[in-house]
Amino acid sequence: MKILSLAFAATLLTGMTLLHAEDSPLEGQMKILAKDTKQLSQQIADSSQQQANIDLIEKIRSAVLEAKKLNPRKTASIPATDQAKFIADYQAQMDKLSDAYAQMEIALKAGNYEEARNLLSTVGSLKKEGHKKFKQD
Ligand code: HEM
Repeated sequence: MKILSLAFAATLLTGMTLLHAEDSPLEGQMKILAKDTKQLSQQIADSSQQQANIDLIEKIRSAVLEAKKLNPRKTASIPATDQAKFIADYQAQMDKLSDAYAQMEIALKAGNYEEARNLLSTVGSLKKEGHKKFKQD
């Protein structure tokens, strides 16, 4: 009996690990965001990368748009009556993120690299705030 429950616990643990190892669709979009934003931050003030940077921002904004359509995993742990507000707040945060990248694109096109850098910091703050509110612990 003891061996059986041990085997059961082991199976459960393995299952949980596997479950966790699998990305949610939202995590998939977040990974695109993370990779491309990192690249962008490395070459934002390089005028020879201007077009590449604009292309990156457009790719990032599509990922944000896709992410906005998905609900965070944490939604399931929010009381049913509060879920609509939770999702609306999440979507509003995603709109702010998209706006920050849109402004970054305008700044880059104007050759205003300092402004573009400041907007990267804005993205960093939106990310921190967004993860605190919407990411499961
Ligand atoms: C409006 C701002 C943001 C919000 C509301 C947000 C929300 C979330 C949520 C809810 C998850 C968990 C996925 C799930 O529940 O299925 C997540 C994961 C993640 N996010 Fe964001 N996010 C934001 C901005 C960003 C930005 C700007 C980046 C990177 C530049 C980023 C990178 C990641 C990464 C890498 C993960 C995967 C988990 C991890 O490795 O920690 N996020 N985000």
